Amino acid sequence: MARGLTDLFALDPSVTFLNHGSYGACPAIVIAAQRGWQDALERQPVAFMDPRHLRARFAEVRAALAAELGARAEDLVWATNATEALNLVARALPLQPGDEILTTDHEYAAIDKTWDFVCRRTGAVVRRAEVPVPLVSEEAFTEAVLARLSPRTRVLSLSHVTSPTALALPIGRVVAEARRQGILTVVDGAHAPGLIALSLDALGADFYAGNCHKWLMSPKGAGFLHVRAAMKGLLAPSIISHGWAPGLSPRDSGPLGDDAFLDAFQFRGTRDPSAWLSVTAALAFRREHDWAAVSADCRRLAIDAARLIAGDLGAGLLAAEPFLTQMVAITVPSCDPLQLHDALLAEDGIEIPVFRWKDRTFVRLSIQAYNTEADTERLRHALLRRFAGGDQARIRVPSGS
Ligand SMILES: Cc1ncc(COP(=O)(O)O)c(C=O)c1O
Repeated sequence: MARGLTDLFALDPSVTFLNHGSYGACPAIVIAAQRGWQDALERQPVAFMDPRHLRARFAEVRAALAAELGARAEDLVWATNATEALNLVARALPLQPGDEILTTDHEYAAIDKTWDFVCRRTGAVVRRAEVPVPLVSEEAFTEAVLARLSPRTRVLSLSHVTSPTALALPIGRVVAEARRQGILTVVDGAHAPGLIALSLDALGADFYAGNCHKWLMSPKGAGFLHVRAAMKGLLAPSIISHGWAPGLSPRDSGPLGDDAFLDAFQFRGTRDPSAWLSVTAALAFRREHDWAAVSADCRRLAIDAARLIAGDLGAGLLAAEPFLTQMVAITVPSCDPLQLHDALLAEDGIEIPVFRWKDRTFVRLSIQAYNTEADTERLRHALLRRFAGGDQARIRVPSGS
């Protein structure tokens, strides 16, 4: 893996950056494209923000992103991030006391909190399916989730790629079955765009939230919400602005020239839309550099390195290969996650997240085009130095941490 793409990113060269997963890393040329949009906005703010012009720019982004996601452009609206989009959905669903929201034991903590908040307000309750680990087959996953459906299940909420465990969950069959049973389906695809192949129309989830700023490499602040046409009427934008009008159904003409759904969600007062407008530059960057091939190389390195390190530490990976991506969780001996994170950064110059999940501790390795095998070897040696023999007492932490 020596594609020489490191120079295309703005990352600090003194850090071995193995955490693309948390916030992404944006290529310098895409950041320049965002600055270009901001310059244009500052040159003539009134003309730039005029919905007649901005609407056309939003349409270009939606069209390009829809092609990437296997979706229809009119079903996509911009959100700051997946958290915002999922909050909007969770807080809009018509839930009653005793209704059940079925999710898994691998979910992102902030989205668990979102459902907790909603349950406290509505009297609904969260139920969890335990995803079998190691995850070896779609059947095992499907059975584990479907077994937890009950006559009271109203919502199925699943990560597409899990945060603490980095599993690409095979959600197609459970989404289809939930829909067949009239259960609302909500997918947290925060990591999925650019990391795994997507076809949102074929998946058919009612609500799918995602980020462009992680693996699609747009500037930060570019998330989206994809809503199945029949579900649009359930939602209201978090901010009521000029694009909203009372009494309209989603397909009616809206006040700003698109349909009522798009008008209501796209315009949010004086808000810098440059991150969203730069999604097209991120997609162009990926095309120009043959990103499908780059990602395949990265995935290979991530899985091989994870397998090697896990083997050295006496652990196995959490899933068979079909459920692994270029972001892989590696089990390490039990330790304080923050201390290990800080020690790896301070002593080895390695930025990698460390998570506690149930009674396990993981480092989550992300490989992107700027990484090489030298980076994964550095991680391997840093972990072996601390953990060889699995002795927690050998973790060295910087003084004062
Ligand atoms: C599964 C999952 N959901 C949601 C999020 C939140 O993403 P954002 O902060 O961009 O909203 C993350 C972030 O890593 C995540 O891993």
